[in-house]
Amino acid sequence: MPVTSLSEILPAAPCRVILLGGNGLLGGAFRRAWAGHSRFSVTEFPRAELNLTRLDQIQQTLDRTDFDLLINAAAYTQVDDAEVQPDLAMAVNAHAAGLLAELCAARRARMVHFSTDYVFDGQQSGPYLETDPASPLNTYGRSKLEGEQRVAAASPHHLILRLAWLFGPGRDAFPEWVLQQALRQDEVRVVSDKTGSPTYSEDVPAGVEALLAVADPGLVHLVNGPAGSWQEYGQGVLDAATVCGWPLRTNRVTPVALSSLPGLTARRPVQSALDTAKFTRLTGLTPRPWPEAMADHLASKPVPV
Ligand SMILES: NC(=O)c1ccc[n+]([C@@H]2O[C@H](COP(=O)([O-])OP(=O)(O)OC[C@H]3O[C@@H](n4cnc5c(N)ncnc54)[C@H](OP(=O)(O)O)[C@@H]3O)[C@@H](O)[C@H]2O)c1
Repeated sequence: MPVTSLSEILPAAPCRVILLGGNGLLGGAFRRAWAGHSRFSVTEFPRAELNLTRLDQIQQTLDRTDFDLLINAAAYTQVDDAEVQPDLAMAVNAHAAGLLAELCAARRARMVHFSTDYVFDGQQSGPYLETDPASPLNTYGRSKLEGEQRVAAASPHHLILRLAWLFGPGRDAFPEWVLQQALRQDEVRVVSDKTGSPTYSEDVPAGVEALLAVADPGLVHLVNGPAGSWQEYGQGVLDAATVCGWPLRTNRVTPVALSSLPGLTARRPVQSALDTAKFTRLTGLTPRPWPEAMADHLASKPVPV
């Protein structure tokens, strides 16, 4: 009988999970959320043990490991560096992802893979659906799109989640940059003409868990919403820090144009908000608003003196 549901072929408990990228921003969220989980038993392979540029090592490592589910939170994520290291970005984000999916499919293990809003060119005025055509503007986006395509082709019961503007504990991201600026300077200049959807890393594992109970979810957008500009995102960070009593030198961001930002090698979509209606339709869950998640994120940090 053909398998129709991810949940049908995952053992009830324990489900043996391989986690790749556990030292990263997103992978760390899975490490924390699924440590001691009643359903998932997680084994991590950090880069030192499984380098995704080494296809032979991927094959050997997975061949000798028993698992039911692979969470691929590892990726080449330096958007600007990818312009000068396109082969490395493609090796990790596309070729390795495709091989992981092939190996998962061969042993009937599930694969959860992650992608990005940067697969879109930003020309659409409203939030992007999973069915909207992707047309990346930069090398990172092209490598991630090819990764999506290879995973989808190799693994019939894949789950690919597109995330965006990730923040959370463990690795500094945009909120930490804004906070550092506001602690040191009287002015924090943040781009006002780029729109997208912040995603709290700590909310993703629960979303994945919900999707694992759904028959063949395929490609799904998962962000916190509502969509907004970098300026609104930055202001939300300062608002949350102010509530927590951070000694900021300014509690207002200053809007600037994307074109005024120095040091950006890669072109970026100016509008890459993601629509999460499919996630809600499949799971019955609505991602919470990112300002609420930001309040949790700030509350988890010590207030600087
Ligand atoms: N960050 C965002 O804003 C964002 C937005 C949308 C989508 N995403 C997607 O979300 C996923 C997770 O991103 P993230 O921000 O959590 O990334 P991250 O913090 O940069 O972590 C990436 C992880 O991948 C590992 N890695 C990189 N190259 C590797 C290699 N050659 N072999 C083995 N492991 C390797 C890193 O290992 P080390 O710990 O050794 O460095 C790290 O653990 C990615 O698929 C990314 O495309 C991210």
